[in-house]
Amino acid sequence: MFKGLRWRLLLYYLMVMAAILSVFGAGVYVFLTQSLYQQLDKKLQTLAQSAAPSFTEVEVKGSQYIEQVDEVPWRDIFNRDKQSLEWFDDQGKLLARRGAIVLTFPPKLGSLTLELPETSEPIRTFTISVFKDTSKPSQPSLEGYIRASQSTEDVEIVQSQLFWGLGMGGMIALGFVGIGGLWLTQKALEPIEKSFKKLKQFTADASHELRSPLTAIKASVDVMRNHPERIHPKDAKKLVAIASATDQMSHLAEDLLFLARTDAALSIPTRKSVPISLNTVLHNLVELLESFAQDKQITLEYHGLTTVSVIGDEGQLTRLFSNLLENALQYTPPQGKVVLTVAKQNRYALVMIEDTGIGIAPEHQPFVFDRFWRADKARSHRERGTGLGLAIAQAITHSHGGKITLTSQVGVGSCFQIRLPLV
Ligand SMILES: Nc1ncnc2c1ncn2[C@@H]1O[C@H](COP(=O)(O)OP(=O)(O)OP(=O)(O)O)[C@@H](O)[C@H]1O
Ligand SMILES: [Mg+2]
Repeated sequence: MFKGLRWRLLLYYLMVMAAILSVFGAGVYVFLTQSLYQQLDKKLQTLAQSAAPSFTEVEVKGSQYIEQVDEVPWRDIFNRDKQSLEWFDDQGKLLARRGAIVLTFPPKLGSLTLELPETSEPIRTFTISVFKDTSKPSQPSLEGYIRASQSTEDVEIVQSQLFWGLGMGGMIALGFVGIGGLWLTQKALEPIEKSFKKLKQFTADASHELRSPLTAIKASVDVMRNHPERIHPKDAKKLVAIASATDQMSHLAEDLLFLARTDAALSIPTRKSVPISLNTVLHNLVELLESFAQDKQITLEYHGLTTVSVIGDEGQLTRLFSNLLENALQYTPPQGKVVLTVAKQNRYALVMIEDTGIGIAPEHQPFVFDRFWRADKARSHRERGTGLGLAIAQAITHSHGGKITLTSQVGVGSCFQIRLPLV
C-alpha cells in the first residue's frame, strides 16, 4: 500500500518539477534568443550607420568607390564573407552592393528576417534611411537607404547549443530531483507507515484479547441456558439477547483478527498452500446453504466444473466463497435466484456468484470492499452485519494472487467474479 503511494507521490513531485523546469528553461531560452537578435541588430545598425557618410560618394562614383576597400570608413567592422551592405536611392533602386549576400527584396526600414529563396538560409537585415544635409535641419530630405545584412547562422548555432544545453541540463536536474524526491517521500511517509503498523498491531492485539472474555461469557450463558429452571421467566429473553450479542461480537473479533493477520502476511505466501479442488469447496458450501436458501424461498443453482484446482488454503477459500454466497442470499428477496458458476479462462479459474437481489448503486460500488462499509439499503434489509465480509473476501483473493470484480444494477442484481490462478 505504502509502496504504491510512495511511487505515486514521487511521480507527482517529478511532474511538478518537470513543469517548473520547462517553464524556467523556456523563459531562459526565449530571453537569451531575443538578446542574441538584439545584439545582431545593433551590430548591423552600427555597420549601416558607418556606411552612411559615404552615401553621396557611392551615389556619384557607384561600385568604383566601394572597390577601394582599404579606404572606406567601415572597413574595420565589415566582414565581406558573411555580411553585405547595399545602397538604395530614395525610390528603393539599388545603387551599389558590397558583400557575399545577394538580396532581391526592396529595402524596408528597421530589422527584418528574410529567407534567401535559393538556399532558404535565414538572413537578418537592418535598414536605415539617409538624409541630405540641408540648410534647414527641421526639413530633412530623404537621400536613400542603406541596408546591412548578415546570415543568422551564428545565432542559430548558439540557439541550438542553448536548446540542447538547457534540455540536457533539465534532464540531469530532473534525475537529481528524482533521487532527492525518493529520499523525501520515504522520509515523509516513514512516520505514517509506523503509526499505520502500530494501528494494525493494536487491532490484532485488541481482537485477540477480546476472544477470551467473550468465550467466557458465551460459556457462562450456555451453562445458564442449560438450566432453565434456575432462570426467572422474565430473564429468559434477556439471556437470548446476551447470547446473540455475544455471538455477533465473537464474529466481529474473529473477522478483525483475520484482517489484521492477512494485512501483516500479505507479502508472504499463505501458510497452508496445497492444490484445492474448487468443486469440492463450492459443492460443500452449496449443500450447507441449501436449507437457508429454501427458508428464504430463493433458488440456489450450482454449475460446477470438476477439473478446476487452485493452490491455496482450503479454510480461507471456503470463507471467501461463503461470504459472497451469504451476501447473495441475504440481499436477495424471496422468489429470487442465486447462481454459482465455475469456469476456466486462460490460466485462471473463474467463479461467478450472480443474484437477482437489491443490487448496488454505481456510486457505492467503489466502496463495497472497504472495511465496515454497508449501504443504507442493506441496513434496512438486514440489521446485523459488520461490513467486513467483502473486505475479507478481497484480502483472501489478493493473498491467493487473484482478482475480485463486481458488476451490479440496482433492483436487478449483482455479480461478483473471482479469478484465481489455476494449478
Ligand atoms: N450481493 C449483494 N447484493 C447487494 N448488496 C450487496 C451484496 N453484497 C454486498 N452488498 C453490499 O455491500 C455491503 C458490504 O458487504 P459485506 O459482506 O462486506 O458486509 P455485510 O454483509 O453488511 O456484513 P458482514 O460483515 O456480516 O458480511 C453490504 O452491506 C451491502 O450493502
Ligand atoms: Mg456480508
